[in-house]
Amino acid sequence: MEDIMITTNRLIITTFQEEMAESVYLNSLDEDTRTFVPDEVFASEQEAREVIRFLMRCYKGLEGPFVYPVLLTSGECIGYVQAVHMGSEWEVGYHIASQHTGRGYATEALTAFLPVIMAKLNIEEIWGICRSDNGASRRVLEKCGFELVFSGTDHYAGQSCRVCKYVYRGTERL
Ligand SMILES: CC(C)(COP(=O)(O)OP(=O)(O)OC[C@H]1O[C@@H](n2cnc3c(N)ncnc32)[C@H](O)[C@@H]1OP(=O)(O)O)[C@@H](O)C(=O)NCCC(=O)NCCS
Repeated sequence: MEDIMITTNRLIITTFQEEMAESVYLNSLDEDTRTFVPDEVFASEQEAREVIRFLMRCYKGLEGPFVYPVLLTSGECIGYVQAVHMGSEWEVGYHIASQHTGRGYATEALTAFLPVIMAKLNIEEIWGICRSDNGASRRVLEKCGFELVFSGTDHYAGQSCRVCKYVYRGTERL
């Protein structure tokens, strides 16, 4: 997979650099991350750096995960967007640091990311899955054009809970 560089009005979505380890570590400590995606909380800056090194190696392969930092135009790293293999399908993920939420950044980043990553992966649909009580995440998916196809109990982040599964079908939007 080639590197990506996406620019929107307010954001840059590009590839990880090791120097982002501190912000990636600090961003991961958000209360919402602990609640909704606990496996994405880092214990230290060093752990974040090791994960960044792994993710940078993943850019060279085909299996992913493909995770890209979301930066403000100032260069500040405020979160990430990602596409992760889920069996034979792909799932999106995203995080915006709590001090930057509520300004439309996740929606702006995901809207720009979807056509680029789907073209690179050569796929026509991609999943968005979150806990049913993650209202902000559900709203982001809905604003980006995902369709709710399942609501019920399933395994998520290592536990059984109520989840919502959405799908985005890129070709239907062309
Ligand atoms: C979910 C997340 C990415 C949203 O980021 P964001 O930049 O604030 O998202 P946006 O501003 O683009 O959109 C958020 C929307 O959710 C709404 N919202 C916020 N909290 C909400 C809640 N508790 N219930 C319902 N809607 C909510 C906002 O009002 C906004 O909708 P609007 O534009 O119609 O007003 C961010 O909160 C986050 O990173 N959370 C932790 C990680 C996570 O849960 N990731 C998803 C895992 S599936």
